Amino acid sequence: MALTALKYTVQEKALILGIESSCDETAASVLRRQADGSFEILSSIIASQDEKHAPFGGVVPEIAARAHMQKLDAIIDRAVTDAAVEYDDLSAIAATSGPGLIGGVIAGLMGAKGLAMSLDIPLIAVNHLEGHAVSPKLAGECPFPYLLLLISGGHTQLLSVKGLGDYTRLGSTVDDAAGEAFDKSAKVMGLGFPGGPRVEKTAASGDPSAVKLPRPFKGKDHADFSFAGLKTAVARAYEASDKSDQANADLCASFQQAVCDVFDDRTRRAMALFRKDISAEIDSPQRFVVAGGVAANKKIRSSLEALCNAQNFTLLAPPLKFCTDNAAMIALAGAEHYALGNFDAMDVKARPRWPLDGESARHNPASGFGKKGPKS
Ligand code: KG4
Ligand code: ZN
Repeated sequence: MALTALKYTVQEKALILGIESSCDETAASVLRRQADGSFEILSSIIASQDEKHAPFGGVVPEIAARAHMQKLDAIIDRAVTDAAVEYDDLSAIAATSGPGLIGGVIAGLMGAKGLAMSLDIPLIAVNHLEGHAVSPKLAGECPFPYLLLLISGGHTQLLSVKGLGDYTRLGSTVDDAAGEAFDKSAKVMGLGFPGGPRVEKTAASGDPSAVKLPRPFKGKDHADFSFAGLKTAVARAYEASDKSDQANADLCASFQQAVCDVFDDRTRRAMALFRKDISAEIDSPQRFVVAGGVAANKKIRSSLEALCNAQNFTLLAPPLKFCTDNAAMIALAGAEHYALGNFDAMDVKARPRWPLDGESARHNPASGFGKKGPKS
């Protein structure tokens, strides 16, 4: 984060407006933070674009950007009205500034800049992934340090979180994100969009051992992920199946089980790496956070809960409604930065790529480099 002022502690209570527009949800939220760090979500408005993207089986960036621009003002207005506050009461505007689809991020960030300038209050550029990383606090206490499994449509990472802005990546996907594997499998099977919830629902009446599918990287001596082969295996199995309701349910259940097994194996490895990273005793009690859209999956949550119980970790997760993209988590990350005096200049740029762990990503991104630097 580019700082415009020296760090200082803001003691007074604050009212933060959060804005989220990095993918296909246009969202705004007002959060009240007390001087002691406690907070309250006064409003959280989310306008989904699902029906606009459904015919294409995935998010279309141009459609998303236009929809954000059309809806943003009204969504912000509703968030302020629902919170029963006035624009003049706001202390700062926090907006997702990346990573994400550039058109949407620009739409939200421009709106935030305009508001911050007209109200003459600070702008806080929030990393969307940091929003997910702090989202368990929307359910209750979640002190640092913790091991974070961040599983969304765009990212799949295991991070050691030692403080706000203090992240060490322990593993990440070398190809597709977990949510992408759900979405693409659903698309192949004609289940509709977004795929995750459809796969979960279809899997409910299926047999998780019916279809033999791979568990990529299982047993490997690192904590990275790979989902491309699993996605292809689902497509092949679907082609070979009789495509009946029962066959679809069995395939969804088998795919979901494969994902659970992969998370179990990779997270187990990362738990050891995490204890080493924070210099904790083997088997010492620790915290584990699962966040991001895929964390809304109940089977995945219960499988991770069992792993945590066996490994002496306490599982913490955001409430289901704050797993997928929302602005409450952006307002919360913004409020934490506000308390530290971390403000951004009005020329802060939208960043389609913005790894949470800037340093380690620069050296060794599992997802590789693109023309503009590390991919994730
Ligand atoms: O965090 P999110 O809303 O957006 C990103 O930052 O990417 O995550 C969206 C992803 C989508 O891929 C969606 O299919 C997946 O989360 N998802 C789920 C479930 N609900 C949403 N995946 C599996 N099971 C679910 N119940
Ligand atoms: Zn997200």
